[in-house]
Amino acid sequence: PRPIKKAKLVLLGDVGTGKSSLVLRYLKGEFVEFQESTIGAAFFTQTVVINDETVRFEIWDTAGQERYHCLAPMYYRGAAAAVVVYDVTNPATFSRAKKWVQELEIQGSQNTIIALAGNKADLLEARQVFAEEAQTYAEDNGLLFMETSAKTAINVNDIFYEIELDHLVQ
Ligand code: GTP
Ligand code: MG
Repeated sequence: PRPIKKAKLVLLGDVGTGKSSLVLRYLKGEFVEFQESTIGAAFFTQTVVINDETVRFEIWDTAGQERYHCLAPMYYRGAAAAVVVYDVTNPATFSRAKKWVQELEIQGSQNTIIALAGNKADLLEARQVFAEEAQTYAEDNGLLFMETSAKTAINVNDIFYEIELDHLVQ
């Protein structure tokens, strides 16, 4: 058998955008209304087999609170992929997401795949960031993009799968 590859995957984004909820949904198929704010970062692993290749993804779910910003490079350095999360009901989090993308482009590793996730897409009435705007931004910056909902599970497996696939194709 071929050796197992390791790949680091990091989630970045403003406080409360749903990073931990996306990870919980992806890894356990669960959602909680009162997810606690992450302190520092949380670590998970997920082994996936795609096209006969086994990859162990080491997932770093970082804390969105600004005081933890200085720790972020530790998590995104050498990452195979970064998921930058914003909340579609909160334009400030979309601005923050763009800042993360900028930081990754300047200080991150050259071949880190960046995916943009517009989370809380289930909150139809409260939406303030439109998909078209984010899609255009993503295309202009060469990012994967999906709107997701950790609550309803929409596109959650899909975005992680896209990232994994992209990683293996690289
Ligand atoms: P920090 O760890 O503080 O950076 O936050 P986070 O990005 O990990 O957010 P977290 O997963 O803790 O979610 C924040 C709140 O948003 C929680 O109350 C979640 O239940 C809620 N939430 C997360 N994802 C969704 C979603 O897709 N839809 C809805 N309606 N609520 C969500
Ligand atoms: Mg969290």
